[in-house]
Amino acid sequence: MGFRCMFKVLAVFAVTLTVTATSVAGQAKAGCQSNCGNTSIPYPFETGSTDCNISKRFFIRCNTSFNPPKAFLTTSDIEVLHISLNGYLRIQYSVGYDCYNSSGSAYYFYAGFRLSKFLISHTRNKFTAIGCDTYAYVEGFTGRTYSTGCVSFCYDVADLVNRSCSGIGCCQTALPKGVTDYELSFDSYWKHSKVLSFNPCSYGFAVEDGAYSFSVSDLSNINFSKRKFPIILDWTIGNQSCMEAKMDVDNYACKQNSDCIDPENGRGYLCKCLHGFQDINECETLKPCSGTCHNLPGSYNCSCPKGFEGDGRKKGTGCNPKVKQHFPILVGTLGIGMSLLFSLFMLLMGVFGA
Ligand SMILES: *[C@@H]1O[C@H](CO)[C@@H](O)[C@H](O)[C@H]1NC(C)=O
Ligand SMILES: *[C@@H]1O[C@H](CO)[C@@H](O)[C@H](O)[C@H]1NC(C)=O
Ligand SMILES: *[C@@H]1O[C@H](CO)[C@@H](O)[C@H](O)[C@H]1NC(C)=O
Ligand SMILES: *[C@@H]1O[C@H](CO)[C@@H](O)[C@H](O)[C@H]1NC(C)=O
Ligand SMILES: *[C@@H]1O[C@H](CO)[C@@H](O)[C@H](O)[C@H]1NC(C)=O
Ligand SMILES: *[C@@H]1O[C@H](CO)[C@@H](O)[C@H](O)[C@H]1NC(C)=O
Ligand SMILES: *[C@@H]1O[C@H](CO)[C@@H](O)[C@H](O)[C@H]1NC(C)=O
Ligand SMILES: *[C@@H]1O[C@H](CO)[C@@H](O)[C@H](O)[C@H]1NC(C)=O
Repeated sequence: MGFRCMFKVLAVFAVTLTVTATSVAGQAKAGCQSNCGNTSIPYPFETGSTDCNISKRFFIRCNTSFNPPKAFLTTSDIEVLHISLNGYLRIQYSVGYDCYNSSGSAYYFYAGFRLSKFLISHTRNKFTAIGCDTYAYVEGFTGRTYSTGCVSFCYDVADLVNRSCSGIGCCQTALPKGVTDYELSFDSYWKHSKVLSFNPCSYGFAVEDGAYSFSVSDLSNINFSKRKFPIILDWTIGNQSCMEAKMDVDNYACKQNSDCIDPENGRGYLCKCLHGFQDINECETLKPCSGTCHNLPGSYNCSCPKGFEGDGRKKGTGCNPKVKQHFPILVGTLGIGMSLLFSLFMLLMGVFGA
């Protein structure tokens, strides 16, 4: 186990290499699945077979009853959209809401989750509240209890501006550093009674910075409560700093040509390929096989389905149906082809040689 980086020798990558060499990628441990549906699952995240749960913390549950299959964080119902080896992952989560009708409170959902090992990124997310009679709070525990939030009041739909999130109908604020717990709560001053015609609900959600653009119509859309938004979580390996981890040789994960970096948020460390080296999920990135591609540590192989032969490589012989009876005929046509080519070659040589 561990991160390994290789020098990329492929000519196609030679040009881009100098530019992208500092980006990191990892490969799933041999024998583990490297993806779940469309989501690539790189080491140290793992999914698939049971011998892949060396650390439950990085286990991704792949639910194949969806098409394509969906990835979920450990045992939770939090869907994972993307895992980056630069120390973050993108999840998808529901909005919280607090809705009213003419007789008062109608229905609500105070969304929240508790992450024991991951952190909600304080640099890549914004806590967002929309509504016109809205106090929205996010509370939790960072080691200390924290509470932050947004206030938004408005009285006339004409005052609202699309894509503007500056406190009239929509409000955004930063989240504190080191947040693992996230729990929403709401309050309203007039129970939305003054704005019921165009805004019966208050909504609150953490969202990846830039991934939500306020639309005035969201305030009256009763289906907004069903929306889900991307949130960026930070992840690291273990709880040791680079200096501590390097001394713990047996468990130190930054192997071959990779270096240790201390994260900006939280404890633990990350591995990064050294300059000029890059490890890639070759099956996914290069798509080198016309047959089935298997990722192996630091390499890959190709194979052909049953009844086919060849090396399975796009640049090799590929996969061709096994032929037996037609062999002599094939040689015959090939022979004709070759001699035709040869004559043409000689002809051309003759023309240009003169
Ligand atoms: C997911 O993969 C399927 C086929 O494997 C493809 O048709 C689809 O476009 C992909 N979806 C996304 C969002 O990449
Ligand atoms: C793998 O998961 C099983 C079931 O959750 C657990 O009993 C076992 O200890 C895990 N193995 C490792 C190496 O963590
Ligand atoms: C997969 O998702 C379906 C539908 O949400 C659910 O019923 C099922 O329990 C899930 N299976 C696993 C293994 O999580
Ligand atoms: C308001 O919502 C409550 C709770 O859902 C419901 O009992 C009540 O009938 C609703 N009132 C009106 C006027 O729709
Ligand atoms: C805001 O955008 C929505 C569509 O997203 C559009 O229907 C609406 O007319 C726009 N309103 C204003 C005031 O620009
Ligand atoms: C809300 O969703 C329901 C069912 O998905 C749909 O029939 C309805 O038209 C939607 N309403 C709005 C305002 O988009
Ligand atoms: C670090 O992690 C190890 C193993 O998960 C645990 O036993 C230890 O208590 C942790 N140390 C601190 C300071 O959190
Ligand atoms: C390719 O690797 C897979 C997985 O390790 C293995 O099962 C298969 O036999 C290998 N095929 C070839 C042609 O080496």
